[in-house]
Amino acid sequence: MVDNSAGASDPIKVLIRTLVSMRRGAPMSVAAGRVPAAALRGIDTLARPPIHSVIGFGAFWAAPEFARKELLKRGERVVVDIPLLPKLLFTASPQDVKAVFGDRDGALKLGEALRKMAPHEIVFGTEMIDWWNGANHALLRKKVMPAFGGRALAGYEQAITDAVLNRLPEWPVDKPVQFTHLMQDLARDVIIAVVFGVTEPDRRRRLEKAFIDLDKTLASPGIVARYVIAMARGGKWPSFERLEKINARIDAITREEIEFRRDNPSDEERKDCLEIFLKLQETDEDNVLDDHMIALFQRMLLIAGYETTAVTLSWVAERVTRHPEVMAKLEQSIDAGDDTYLDAVITETMRLRPALPVTMRYAWEDFVMNDVLVPKGTVIMLYINAIQKRADIYPDPETFDPERFVGVRPDPNSWLPFGGGAHRCIGASFAMFESRVLLRTILRHRALKLTTAPDERQDQHRNIFLLPGDGGRVTMRKRPEAR
Ligand code: HEM
Repeated sequence: MVDNSAGASDPIKVLIRTLVSMRRGAPMSVAAGRVPAAALRGIDTLARPPIHSVIGFGAFWAAPEFARKELLKRGERVVVDIPLLPKLLFTASPQDVKAVFGDRDGALKLGEALRKMAPHEIVFGTEMIDWWNGANHALLRKKVMPAFGGRALAGYEQAITDAVLNRLPEWPVDKPVQFTHLMQDLARDVIIAVVFGVTEPDRRRRLEKAFIDLDKTLASPGIVARYVIAMARGGKWPSFERLEKINARIDAITREEIEFRRDNPSDEERKDCLEIFLKLQETDEDNVLDDHMIALFQRMLLIAGYETTAVTLSWVAERVTRHPEVMAKLEQSIDAGDDTYLDAVITETMRLRPALPVTMRYAWEDFVMNDVLVPKGTVIMLYINAIQKRADIYPDPETFDPERFVGVRPDPNSWLPFGGGAHRCIGASFAMFESRVLLRTILRHRALKLTTAPDERQDQHRNIFLLPGDGGRVTMRKRPEAR
């Protein structure tokens, strides 16, 4: 990777830039920065894609691996300038990651980036985008955190284990299957049981149906068409009635469940997110966690925690079935009741095959990102999939080697599948715990057959997610000694 920021530290270049900026009347300081603006380089001095920007951005979607390699041939930062879209600054620099996640002044907004670049406004609603952008974000995050911490997680373990045990009988044995599909069912079951805590059969069936309808709609041409219109209109999303109706169905089920619990207090402690939110509501003096917000938040968790987990687990299966030595060690460690190696396998899979290739922030104000002045209105694309494959950080980066993470805490600036900073995935510990329990339970009952098939390509997009190219094809056999 060429370091195209090297020139920034060249004193002569800095002096020239300073003089040029002073002539242009540039400000001597900027909102987010402690560095004089004149000592900074503009994003116009950064590399452009080696191919036309429109093709480069198209390739990001159509041929992600090709795009990753091509886009970054010119350096670790590339500016992609496409008509109608904000300027996109892709960066694969851990220093930039640090600067972006370190923004404490609110100069960078996740919500606004999602509004401009992704369908979140029609999926989650304007209220949630405003929450992402606004002052209540940190407050609500802090309030709901107990649902995602250690004590709560332990309470979810049985429901997660049961989700696997319930599904196992229907999984084909000795026949190839697409693991991605199985993991989608499983991740959905976990969200219904652990986030929504819905058990009453009719309500559960309706929630599952709404969930499946939502999933189909999110991957439908209707979304793509609106995406194109919204991009052309600078992030103004046309409404999508079908989606609104499904969202309303899900929110109504949450409210129904809340009413049910208020009318039927249980002697047994309910162990799910909804129950924790309702308890937190009782002491919520700021009134940020009312029933309406709980319903919106639950729906956000549903979407945020479903495909991400399913994709990650299918990549784990794809990776371990191609590495006999990893598989052997994994099975041994699980049999011995030790999760250390399993955690390393999940961590390494998320490095090499992150579910989300990028996360982003919109510059609400001019922002100093190390030696660069990022102008207001730019979208910074933190290129997770490129940062995590840097050879200078991860030697032999394309090799799947869980040993990198055995007993090692990943560096947050170069291992960022959960993003970071003020918006770091709130469900990160939950997702790690869930993945651990699901995989451990699956592998105690089923062996995944090793394969000599070529690696599945990391080039299949579903929404923004990068799935295994063949859907994570695996063959399972029963473990006679299943415990
Ligand atoms: C392997 C699974 C998962 C991955 C890879 C993942 C990844 C991410 C990423 C990249 C972000 C954006 C963070 C940023 O830009 O700094 C995010 C945000 C978020 N995720 Fe996850 N996620 C996963 C599972 C979950 C689960 C299980 C839940 C909840 C049950 C969840 C809830 C959320 C929420 C609520 C946010 C928004 C946080 C905020 O803006 O404050 N995620 N996730």
